Amino acid sequence: MTTAKTATLGGIEAHPLDKYLELGEDEISERISVARRRLGTRAVILGHHYQRDDVICHSDLQGDSFKLSEQASQRPEAEYIVFCGVHFMAESADILSGRHQQVILPDLAAGCSMADMASLDQVETAWEQMHSIGIDDLLPVTYMNSTAAIKSFCGRQGGVVCTSSNALPLFKWAFSQSSKLFFFPDEHLGRNTGLRYGIPLDEMVVWDPRLELGGNDVEQLRRARIILWKGFCSVHGRFLPRHVDERRAEFPGIKVIVHPECRYDVVEKADLNGSTEFIIKVLAEAPAGSRWAVGTEVNLVNRLANLHPDKLITLLAPDLCMCATMFRIAPQNLLWALENLVDHHVVNQIRVDEETARWARVALDRMLAIH
Ligand code: 13P
Ligand code: SF4
Repeated sequence: MTTAKTATLGGIEAHPLDKYLELGEDEISERISVARRRLGTRAVILGHHYQRDDVICHSDLQGDSFKLSEQASQRPEAEYIVFCGVHFMAESADILSGRHQQVILPDLAAGCSMADMASLDQVETAWEQMHSIGIDDLLPVTYMNSTAAIKSFCGRQGGVVCTSSNALPLFKWAFSQSSKLFFFPDEHLGRNTGLRYGIPLDEMVVWDPRLELGGNDVEQLRRARIILWKGFCSVHGRFLPRHVDERRAEFPGIKVIVHPECRYDVVEKADLNGSTEFIIKVLAEAPAGSRWAVGTEVNLVNRLANLHPDKLITLLAPDLCMCATMFRIAPQNLLWALENLVDHHVVNQIRVDEETARWARVALDRMLAIH
């Protein structure tokens, strides 16, 4: 279980958030810089690439889920890790950092709809159902985008965590341990990685947690090499094969690059696919004048377009593919969290309980060691 708390020291109340909501942009930005300077090395601000511009510009380190988890484990000098990202990332930072460190999520409503699609109860029920039909040689692999409780389940069962940037080596490792994988919560990353590993589509089945045996018969489950949890990202799930066709018709010669959380039929049509960090690198190295349609979160795509004005960079879909929960972290929340820290008030701390953290760390450490 994770707890989130706001500490009040010496009877003095923390600064209330509502005082910050009316402030103007310039004042907020200036005060964030001042608070940041006053905290010095006592704090580190981590920012996921999908954060909005007016927040990411204040982060000390930026990265995708993998890079940020490494950074959280490599900053023992920081008393406070202020995480501009979503809840499961802050949980992982808490698990991987020292017990003397405190992780702060500036808005507790910054969750992830995909992570919410697999609860520990549902996964344990699925696990029991599979064992009840004699499927014992099964290794659980969870995507980073899952709760600490799910990561902990994987740690206890000999399983592992993966991110979009290391899914393939982690699948290789997992198949060296077991003949069958149970992958959650992202059906699409699981299928796309399984295909890259060489598992044919008909050897992967989908587990729908609302149905008995996940909606499969016993024979299908026995034959399957990968059992994919029926979960998806509400942002990457919006990209459709027709968007690839439309962009190619609109801009002849355009290259399409997508994140592997996109559906298989989108990934199949794209020229390239890879993690957020991979997309950033490909676009940075692409020649001037090249044209790119990018299937990932809009704040990042817009930032890349501004960063590389010598290339045409456009969002793959015409509608707004924005992660609404990442967007919850506003400069107001960041300033509120930092000014409270300056005054020794720890607000919105994310703390994973010891027992959950112990096993989740096992699964995360396995990932960090294999990468
Ligand atoms: P990565 O950070 O691993 O690219 O994952 C993307 C994502 O959806 C994060 O929530
Ligand atoms: Fe979750 Fe998708 Fe948002 Fe990432 S982009 S936090 S997977 S909803």
